[in-house]
Amino acid sequence: MTTMDLRADIGEILLTEAQIQARVADLGVQISADYAGRPLTLVSVLKGSLPFMADLMRSITLPVRIDLMEVSSYSGATTESSGLVRILKDLSSSIEGEDVLICEDIIDTGLTLNYLVRYLGGKKPASLRICTLLDKPARRLVEIPVDYTGFTIPDQFVVGYGLDYGELYRNLRYVGVLRPEVYTESE
Ligand code: IMP
Repeated sequence: MTTMDLRADIGEILLTEAQIQARVADLGVQISADYAGRPLTLVSVLKGSLPFMADLMRSITLPVRIDLMEVSSYSGATTESSGLVRILKDLSSSIEGEDVLICEDIIDTGLTLNYLVRYLGGKKPASLRICTLLDKPARRLVEIPVDYTGFTIPDQFVVGYGLDYGELYRNLRYVGVLRPEVYTESE
């Protein structure tokens, strides 16, 4: 069960606040150079990508537009492997002709992003690239062309800096591994 002490529920801290901030700043520099002279549209996937998007957009020196989508994966055993996702919140405006960069918190199986890339690609952006803070390649089921990766991490369930377990822990400034007792005791 989740205690009232968020820190006590975390075992190893995988990425400190300083490490995350330094890497996000680097990504901003790289993205600003790659898209130099072009305005950029960042599309973030709620809710986990919120802190990442907020920090990344402030590290980019180009004119930036933002838009937000929210999706949920179907949880049924058969639909899960097909990568079907439901759109809970769609884009607010057209991305046709725009340079679009998807900001994701973490790529795990890749099924969510695989769907999103096809969905957003159908809206005729001038270009479509992917930036993810975390990549867990060990669990990938579909190949995803990731253009920018913050950190590649091992196959562990992590929380913090936007990532949740049961909607909690998103407000931690670091990324940590949840103690197994937290999820085994609540099942
Ligand atoms: P995918 O479709 O399997 O790539 O799932 C991506 C989504 O699963 C992410 O946007 C997260 O919401 C969630 N997810 C995957 N791994 C983790 C994790 O370690 N902690 C928290 N959420 C995760």
